[in-house]
Amino acid sequence: MKKTVSTLQKMKDNGEKISMLTAYDYSTAKLFDEAGIDTMLVGDSLGMVMLGYDSTIPVTVDDMIHHGAAVCRGAKEALIVVDMPFLSYHTSVYDAVVNAGRIMKETGCTAVKLEGGKNVCPQIKAIVEAQIPVCAHIGLTPQSVNAFGGFRVQGKSEEAAKELIEAALAVEEAGAFMVVLEGIPAKLAAIITSKLHIPTIGIGAGAQCDGQVLVYQDMLAMYGNFVPKFVKQFAQVGEIMKGAVADYMKEVQEGTFPGKEHTYAISDDIIEKLY
Ligand code: KIV
Ligand code: NA
Repeated sequence: MKKTVSTLQKMKDNGEKISMLTAYDYSTAKLFDEAGIDTMLVGDSLGMVMLGYDSTIPVTVDDMIHHGAAVCRGAKEALIVVDMPFLSYHTSVYDAVVNAGRIMKETGCTAVKLEGGKNVCPQIKAIVEAQIPVCAHIGLTPQSVNAFGGFRVQGKSEEAAKELIEAALAVEEAGAFMVVLEGIPAKLAAIITSKLHIPTIGIGAGAQCDGQVLVYQDMLAMYGNFVPKFVKQFAQVGEIMKGAVADYMKEVQEGTFPGKEHTYAISDDIIEKLY
């Protein structure tokens, strides 16, 4: 059965952990859905892991729709959240509703996600009023990389920690159904999780969150050599892929692939007439 925002809320209420992974295309989404993942995020991280940009800043609404629609076609049960990219909700509440609406209409996703705390509460409220569920995202918000002056853990000082607790309460009050906590101390994430009624999904935020999310290329070791502290590599898929490519090349070079079993036949009578 298709999971909904109430499915995820019930999971928090029952103390069941929520598993989320990113996905950006049909075949990967289908695999993760068949594995039983609760929810998938079409993250604007696709700018980096799928498109090769060095940040998420250049990603467009059209990019998100292109990938989001493919993921939705592959996911029968998982709830799909699609990221709103940089500058698609910052310019005005009106722009935010129009872009969130386009994303939901043109992909078939259940919810959108946007980054920020109090500064984006008017947008969250208006999008929710347009009947589009919103997942909030606070802490180390990658679209703020230039404003932050790099990627670093947030909420470490008393003032910053208090501000993050207030931001979490504010996005819940504005109507968000879930909130991603990224790159904050585990004990702060635990406090936020206990204060909120809606589920918290952590990435680099410790085990006390109501759920976890990872970029799949990170957890499958498919992206670069740098492994951030919060990433666990659950399989060396990058190495498996390179090994398979090397085996393929070897068999092509030797002429052992394709074998007879991979080859179409034609009757010898016809072949004789072709010489
Ligand atoms: O874009 C993304 O993948 C994300 C998650 C890592 C939370 O926003
Ligand atoms: Na994102």
